[in-house]
Amino acid sequence: MSSKIENNETIVIREMKISDIDRIFELEMEIFSDPWGRDAFVEQIEGENWGGFVAESQSEIIGYACYYIAYVEAHLTNIAVVEKFRRKSVAKLLLDNILQIVEKFQCEYLLLEVRPSNVSAISFYERHDFKLLYRRPNYYHSPVEDALVMVRYFENNGDM
Ligand SMILES: CC(C)(COP(=O)(O)OP(=O)(O)OC[C@H]1O[C@@H](n2cnc3c(N)ncnc32)[C@H](O)[C@@H]1OP(=O)(O)O)[C@@H](O)C(=O)NCCC(=O)NCCS
Repeated sequence: MSSKIENNETIVIREMKISDIDRIFELEMEIFSDPWGRDAFVEQIEGENWGGFVAESQSEIIGYACYYIAYVEAHLTNIAVVEKFRRKSVAKLLLDNILQIVEKFQCEYLLLEVRPSNVSAISFYERHDFKLLYRRPNYYHSPVEDALVMVRYFENNGDM
């Protein structure tokens, strides 16, 4: 799927594949203080009920997002956009694709974890109707920090 963002730039969103992992891992190490290992991305692509999307600009990966489906429960396990492309709706395009998966599997809610210090991500999630569910102590390492568990419910999927 391709979409236009500001300045008429074209962003292509497609499924993540194994040959993307070198670039994604490079970005993951740049972006996060506690990056996922390469194996986590392989598992994400090959595992049943796991998956991911990448965002490309001019055939170069500039963002990615991963999910996990467990029956009525969906998890947004990772989302990141390179700094130069932030605040141009790239994460929104990635999230939209994950929301289509949530719809396809008729999940009742989408969960995620975020550091309380990650103000930009929290603001992004709030904008997309995620609410605080609870705080999980000392969940993150490098540096150690609690996690905020956030949720978005889908009332039309199931009986919740
Ligand atoms: C969180 C992240 C994925 C958002 O990506 P993005 O492509 O910039 O997001 P979008 O452009 O789709 O959405 C932008 C909206 O999110 C919110 N937002 C994003 N960054 C923000 C910031 N620095 N300050 C305040 N609000 C912010 C705002 O509502 C913003 O809308 P606005 O630009 O009209 O004010 C990006 O900041 C990122 O990659 N961060 C590093 C990785 C990370 O922390 N991932 C989440 C781990 S839980």
